[in-house]
Amino acid sequence: MLADTPVLEVKDLSVAYETRQGSVQAVSDVNLSVFRNEIVGLIGESGSGKSTLAYAIMRLLRGGAGVTSGTIRVLEEDVYALSPETLRQFRWNKMSMVFQSAMSALNPVLTIEQQMVDTLRSHRSQLSPAQARQRAAELLQLVHIRPDRMRSFPHELSGGMRQRVVIAIAIALNPALVVMDEPTTALDVVVQRSILDEIQALQRIVGFSILFISHDFSLVAELCSRVAVMYAGRVVELATTQGLFSSSAHHPYTEGLRKAVPRVTAADVSIEGIPGTPPDPARLPAGCAFHPRCAYKMAECTTTRPSLRTVENATIACHLFADKSIAQEPRHV
Ligand SMILES: Nc1ncnc2c1ncn2[C@@H]1O[C@H](COP(=O)(O)OP(=O)(O)OP(=O)(O)O)[C@@H](O)[C@H]1O
Ligand SMILES: [Mg+2]
Repeated sequence: MLADTPVLEVKDLSVAYETRQGSVQAVSDVNLSVFRNEIVGLIGESGSGKSTLAYAIMRLLRGGAGVTSGTIRVLEEDVYALSPETLRQFRWNKMSMVFQSAMSALNPVLTIEQQMVDTLRSHRSQLSPAQARQRAAELLQLVHIRPDRMRSFPHELSGGMRQRVVIAIAIALNPALVVMDEPTTALDVVVQRSILDEIQALQRIVGFSILFISHDFSLVAELCSRVAVMYAGRVVELATTQGLFSSSAHHPYTEGLRKAVPRVTAADVSIEGIPGTPPDPARLPAGCAFHPRCAYKMAECTTTRPSLRTVENATIACHLFADKSIAQEPRHV
């Protein structure tokens, strides 16, 4: 594999849910790549399609959801062309996922040791039970869990420890890609901090690529080299993290997310958000789906959907930058 071949390559991907009200498109025409040892962030408000995209990558879509167009390649393999048995091996060995809820990812009636040994042995049949236990202990050590906690059941561990276990299992078979769907959202800030540090350290020591899903701009900024911003199922901006914090051009939604980062000053903590709420994917506004909430809205925004184009150092889908020589001021606030 060439050094610049992506570990994950999503091309023109659309995903729809079949509901009683008809087909609802939750992901539309998404293009995204993650390269070797890269951490790419995927950010957007609730309902923007982040988890749907993650499940599509893992080929785990359920409940009437399906890929309606596009391709997903992991290590150059078309994920949707794999036979069921190859897909089973492909998961964990080549790609794995850390789900939004650690509790639901663990089996409540098995000890941590049993679940780790089961996962290891079902994919590495040559491992003896003793070797699998040894490997499980090493993995837990990597995420700073003492081996004597191995005999615990999930409910006997704190939320942070459970999430560490889930991360240890996700990397157990050395996958090239780990999709992490809000891995720290349910945890308090201090625990969140230590898990982020651990993810960073693991990524350096073990070496794998991460698609890191979050709605927290500051987390993503800290961890990722590039960030895709999703709104109403579409990637509306793709930029380097450095670029996101520069004064170069940004999608108004990205600006809003950036401002929504809590600001802590000596006197107080304030949060400046984006007015309004994201649209229902079954009833998307015409034109740019963000226009009802956008302070820079122009007539064109209500009729024509902007396509992604390169603007300065980013890729942005916004009519503001059709002629980027025009300096824009908000039309209304
Ligand atoms: N089973 C389903 N049937 C119909 N629509 C669904 C289903 N699951 C999700 N959706 C719709 O798909 C859209 C995207 O949902 P998704 O869970 O991918 O968003 P998300 O970005 O992960 O949100 P969150 O930040 O809350 O996790 C939502 O608008 C949701 O209403
Ligand atoms: Mg989600």
